[in-house]
Amino acid sequence: MDKIAIVGGERLVGEIRISGAKNSAIKLMAASLLTDEPVRLTNMPRLADTRFLGRLLGRLGTEVVETDGPNGGQTILTTPEILSTIAPYDLVRQMRASFNVLGPLLARAGQAKVSLPGGCAIGARPVDLHLQALEALGARIELNEGYVYAQAPRGLRGARIEFPFVSVGATEHALLAAVLARGETVLTGAAREPEIVDLALCLTAMGARIEGAGSATIRIVGVERLSGATHAVAPDRIETGTYALAAAMAGGEVRLTNTRADIIESLLVKMEEAGVEVDRGADGLTVRRNGGRLKAVEVTTDPYPGFATDLQAQFMALMTLADGESVVRETIFENRFMHAPELARLGADIVVNGGEARVRGVANLEAAPVMATDLRASVGLVIAALAARGETVVDRVYHLDRGFERLEEKLSACGARVRRISDAGEEA
Ligand code: EPZ
Repeated sequence: MDKIAIVGGERLVGEIRISGAKNSAIKLMAASLLTDEPVRLTNMPRLADTRFLGRLLGRLGTEVVETDGPNGGQTILTTPEILSTIAPYDLVRQMRASFNVLGPLLARAGQAKVSLPGGCAIGARPVDLHLQALEALGARIELNEGYVYAQAPRGLRGARIEFPFVSVGATEHALLAAVLARGETVLTGAAREPEIVDLALCLTAMGARIEGAGSATIRIVGVERLSGATHAVAPDRIETGTYALAAAMAGGEVRLTNTRADIIESLLVKMEEAGVEVDRGADGLTVRRNGGRLKAVEVTTDPYPGFATDLQAQFMALMTLADGESVVRETIFENRFMHAPELARLGADIVVNGGEARVRGVANLEAAPVMATDLRASVGLVIAALAARGETVVDRVYHLDRGFERLEEKLSACGARVRRISDAGEEA
């Protein structure tokens, strides 16, 4: 298993180009199943998760062609016909978002058999809301031996779907299925994440009729068929926020390009409160910190536009060196503080109690071997290591490779001392 070694103490100065959003890209790839024409996605990140979903789509009948240009990757997905409507356990288990092929398969082929994804390190993560939405759209759903069997032999029909709480995945799933349903669907209590807006934009370019994406109420009028389209994947707000926090932690000045400041506004406000300077520009932002100790501030994760749970580990890393006590509350997932004991190995003072972590800032962090437990936790450790004294080795970086494109390259270009130690022990 690859490791990443970071020698802390270097300021970060330079520019980082932000990639297309992982959590948009994988839903857009699933959306391509809805048409027999080519869907061309540009600004595509090249990640373990997108490669993985490409392989699953290949089994279902999609031809996936990838090319790389100077401004990111391009992926063309064409599914002339659905060759299989089965997404087996061994594939869904490895990436939960594979579950989102259920809706498109059902909408286009009238049936699907997709493995239940099961829990994961950050929580139980049930899919009851996804299934209720599909049932409301007229699907017959049965659960058997860990699989969802869904059928809609005469097609799906529009419905009113009220989500009792915000779910990004269930909102996306309802959208993916409703675009080909007969009649009007109204989603209330819908997620407002930029990835929902991105999916709606791509589906609209494919001929779907959607209004209100980005608000809590989304109206969809089903169409008979969708066509191909070209769509640029939206910038990755979590990658944007992560590098903003890396610059704040290490000190220096980093310009983040090919992205937008407004998609991480709730983070930027907290960073400013802590004493970090932020310039919001037209095509990105600049983050600056020159000396001076950061102030401890409190954050509570919430659905968008609130503070993103996917930035919680990275923000906690920043708070380990702040002056005073910070309280970090996690309200989205029940087990998302696994980075806390790893940060403690670097000398952080953190006490976790249920969904709340109290972080008392220390004067210095000291390097130590640490273990990545999930994608965002692992990058939180990288951020902490940028400011720790000595060389920190982060193990199990396959978590990181799922969602951060060329992380070592991007950080090194700004002066960080980061290297990858590959499986065989040699440096890559
Ligand atoms: C998406 O997960 C993201 N994943 C997550 O990012 C992100 O943390 C999360 O949204 C919240 O922003 C992808 O987009 C692939 P939810 P998702 O449905 O859709 C509960 C990363 O690191 N729930 O909004 O699975 C659920 O257990 C990942 O990139 C139900 O109870 O999140 C959670 O507590 C991690 N029943 C809450 O709702 C359901 O049917 C919100 O989950 C669905 C969800």
